[in-house]
Amino acid sequence: MTSPHAGAARSYLLNERTAEGYRRAMTSATERVADRIRRADRPFSGVDPERLAPEIAAVDLERPLHDHAAALDELERVYLRDAVYFHHPRYLAHLNCPVVIPALLGEAVLSAVNSSLDTWDQSAGGTLIERRLIEWTAGRIGFGPAADGVFTSGGTQSNLHALLLAREEAQAIAGAAPSRLRVITSAAGHFSVRKAANLLGLGPDAVVAVETDDERRMRPDALARELGRCRRAGLVVMAVVATAGTTDFGSIDPLPEIADLCAQAGAWLHVDAAYGCGLLVSRRRRHLLDGVERADSVTVDFHKSFFQPVSSSALLVRDGAVLRHAAHHADYLNPRRMAERGIPNQVDKSLQTTRRFDALKLWLTLRVMGPDAVGELFDEVVDRAAASYALAAADPRFEVVTRSPLSTLVFRYLPPDHLPPDHLRHGDPGRALADDANLYAREALAASGEAVVAGTTVDGRHYLKFTLLNPETTLDDVAHVLDLLAGHAQRYVDDLAPLAGHAEAPHVHA
Ligand SMILES: Cc1ncc(COP(=O)(O)O)c(C=O)c1O
Repeated sequence: MTSPHAGAARSYLLNERTAEGYRRAMTSATERVADRIRRADRPFSGVDPERLAPEIAAVDLERPLHDHAAALDELERVYLRDAVYFHHPRYLAHLNCPVVIPALLGEAVLSAVNSSLDTWDQSAGGTLIERRLIEWTAGRIGFGPAADGVFTSGGTQSNLHALLLAREEAQAIAGAAPSRLRVITSAAGHFSVRKAANLLGLGPDAVVAVETDDERRMRPDALARELGRCRRAGLVVMAVVATAGTTDFGSIDPLPEIADLCAQAGAWLHVDAAYGCGLLVSRRRRHLLDGVERADSVTVDFHKSFFQPVSSSALLVRDGAVLRHAAHHADYLNPRRMAERGIPNQVDKSLQTTRRFDALKLWLTLRVMGPDAVGELFDEVVDRAAASYALAAADPRFEVVTRSPLSTLVFRYLPPDHLPPDHLRHGDPGRALADDANLYAREALAASGEAVVAGTTVDGRHYLKFTLLNPETTLDDVAHVLDLLAGHAQRYVDDLAPLAGHAEAPHVHA
């Protein structure tokens, strides 16, 4: 028997009867977001979890509002009002980009149609569109016709997938026990490499981080030494992970030299270009990725430097045949006979089963804007980062670590009188003060909501970090945020450090 509420419940399903309601609901949601975006005068409200958590806890999930508008009103309070807005020119923190509107069209279409990219019978054209984009990206990398790949949820999954393939290849060739497998990356490589090694059942010593040079690039001599050490110790280097755009410094490892060493050692080369992939469409800086075409596998994160909404990433491989290592044929989904009949199934290549049609966002971006326009946006932020480096390096209030070939800036405020840069010594109380002042400045700035910046440590000391991914961020914005940070840091030195005994930055309330 049908329940008395069945009619009401069914009215929420998207179908031919509700299509008009769907259009109105989507329009009202879009209008609210557009309004928020128009009115945002800062990237963040500065709210802290203590203030926001009770609002969210107070929502009774057992008592629905039965109304889109009422739920969106509530959402203003529990989410939209205090969200962190990446489109704002003074959001300078992590690798989050403002998004392009054609990609948002894709997002709206893909979630409503809700294709699942595992099998042809759940996606049809979606599968072919993803394949075209993989082919296009492989072409930009410089891979040959045997290349292939698959969209993933992000760089972490792409790196895991690459290392899974590398492990299978190494075991097929060398037959080594997992405890004898090694992955070499640089000290500036992404932590997802370690996480992947762990998930793949490699031993605790599996990932070896070799030294970087002054510009935080992997040192080929250090890699050569480590390859030799592994060989002599009877260890199998299943992969070398080079990074094209390290998370903190935007540094690009010397890909041609690394490719030569991998070729000599017979090691799989994975290039983590999660951040640097925007160079694939740059007309001025594509050469910075020279050598990437010699990789066995490449991670690209369209949701970092192609101005795509999260998630949108891909793993590309030079020889598509290696993707078989992740394949499993399930009778209910992708039996072998389908492949034999030439029916295209992306699940045969993916770690995921049900999978969003994220590729559609990139498709519409390329069809509306074209690759050159995306590259221009990325080039602009790289230009801005270079100018920001010059600005901060010439400012005696700051110490800057290195000039990024991409778009980060790692720096710290130096309290005057306390920390002459050329007198830095480990254990110097001035250094502890500088650490605390910079930690405080970042927190105080976030609490004000005027700007959001990131932080990291370099050689054990606390630094601040800008990641520029918004072409709308001007040099004046950068100068203004530097002034704000210097103001907060100096206030810490003058007023708070004597109270805090330099030990730790006090908690900041908005
Ligand atoms: C170099 C690099 N690789 C991989 C990742 C992980 O990417 P995701 O956050 O999309 O999983 C990041 C994230 O910042 C990164 O910077």
